[in-house]
Amino acid sequence: MKAKNLYLAALLLLLCNATHAQYNQLWIPDTISGTTFNLNLRDTFVQYLPGDQTITSGINGAFWGPTLIFRKGDTVHMNVHNYLNDSTTIHWHGMHLPAVMDGGPHQVIPPGTVWQPYWLVSNNAATFWYHPHLHKETQAQITAGLGGFIIVRDSTESTLALPRTYGVDDLPLVLTSRSFDGSNAFTTTGVYGDNMLTNGVLKAEVSLPKQYIRLRILNAEIERGYNLGFSDNRTFYVIGTDGGLLDAPVAVTRVKLLIGERAEIVVNLGTNNVGDSLDLIAYNSGQEFGFPGSEPSTTGEFGSALNNANFKVLHINVAAATTGAITSLPATLVSNTYLTAADATVTRTLNVTQGTPGPGGLPFSLDNTPFDLATINKTVTLNNTEEWTVTNNNVFGHSFHIHDVQFKLISRSSGPLAAYEQGWKDTYYLRVNETVSFVAKFTDYADPTHPFMYHCHISPHEDGGMMGQFVVTDATGVANTQIQLNNFNLYPNPATNRLYVSFSDPSMQPYYVRITNTVGRTLYMLPRPQLQNGIDISSFAPGEYFFELTDDKTKNTLVKKFIKE
Ligand code: C2O
Ligand code: CU
Ligand code: CU
Repeated sequence: MKAKNLYLAALLLLLCNATHAQYNQLWIPDTISGTTFNLNLRDTFVQYLPGDQTITSGINGAFWGPTLIFRKGDTVHMNVHNYLNDSTTIHWHGMHLPAVMDGGPHQVIPPGTVWQPYWLVSNNAATFWYHPHLHKETQAQITAGLGGFIIVRDSTESTLALPRTYGVDDLPLVLTSRSFDGSNAFTTTGVYGDNMLTNGVLKAEVSLPKQYIRLRILNAEIERGYNLGFSDNRTFYVIGTDGGLLDAPVAVTRVKLLIGERAEIVVNLGTNNVGDSLDLIAYNSGQEFGFPGSEPSTTGEFGSALNNANFKVLHINVAAATTGAITSLPATLVSNTYLTAADATVTRTLNVTQGTPGPGGLPFSLDNTPFDLATINKTVTLNNTEEWTVTNNNVFGHSFHIHDVQFKLISRSSGPLAAYEQGWKDTYYLRVNETVSFVAKFTDYADPTHPFMYHCHISPHEDGGMMGQFVVTDATGVANTQIQLNNFNLYPNPATNRLYVSFSDPSMQPYYVRITNTVGRTLYMLPRPQLQNGIDISSFAPGEYFFELTDDKTKNTLVKKFIKE
């Protein structure tokens, strides 16, 4: 080869490498299926940049966590092991479940503790997520990387000809951004990251087959909204919202996702050629005042290199179609029976408020009532259908979320609801100078003790007190039998691997069991424990322990000592 050709070849190779090195392979979270889910929360690290590693937190991994696949109708059992150095909570965002299992700010999991909630999966097929919810620490713990997807499958969704092969034509995409400081640590001083992270990867790219592709997109940001579309402005289809499939696919060229919201979209790559590439883009430039991330500043607390800009979210390379590829979309999906305003028998209003702006401004709140763990803000009667109206006559947009229920948006004072937000929702964009109403039915789970949350999902706002809590109460007041100290026994005592509990009246149901050691450290947290198979204490060191049982009726806590041999 002549020197000139050699030079050309070298240059070509260099260019190829350079284009290639521009992107990093998209990570697809592992899945866990079945009915028992082990989640191990740990402080760990990721090599994001040359030089220092970035300290992160992960669940069964280094950043983010596994995708939990639930089947509607199954009872799922979670073993949440907190191996972090801090307390945390894990909330199952969008799931309909008892408040004591919900993982809100009250279900604090101390370091070294196992929390074992369980529930019947009654949500329809959709994309949910789990994340920490420790009061005042949510921003820090989400920033570190804690969170994960939940995919619910059901028999209705399964019969539809939709892309459904995880990681092949059905991909979860978690969108967030981070900034790094001089030693490559994530910064938490600002609220917007300078660098896009898609599934925890900087400058992510993926190869996708030339066919219909389903993307389950979650905005898991600290504060930024996303206005998503494709680089060639192609039409794509929204098939599902936070809580389930839409009646029919909705054709769009853009979809807006605020913090905590999900959209399932389907895009047709069948019209592309193998070797084509296109980008999923955040068209965030020129958004309205109050859209989080529309601020012009590039530095400071509300500044970011990605603010008021269009930027790449995912680079897609089109590859050969798979066998059994989905090549069309069903014209209709499911038939939802939505709630209407006429169904509501109770109406409530909430106002977004803000303290007197001083240097830095005072935090946002709801109804001038900053969140207080000890204050129940609202009491909802079990089986009520209610219309909630939230008004934001304030200086910034918000992402309003409520636990326990999926609701139907009824109206926006700013104009019509987008066609793609007409499905079941648990989170929505509340614009500046806007009033939004939704209707929800509060079924199944009454508990006068443990509340559910409603809040802004922008974590600095939530941590700053823009949150309230409600209990669902059962007016019929079914009284359970009261457990007393002499009503229950622990056996065998001393125990070796399993500890059993017996009740003098087998219908007695404890509300909560906590096992602590003699220095008061919590080892196990068992909400509404199912005790018939005993409690696995094989990992306990020999010694004395305390079994704290909270009675369902009186919520009194009874304590018995037991010995592990
Ligand atoms: Cu996604 Cu109250 O949470
Ligand atoms: Cu939630
Ligand atoms: Cu907010």
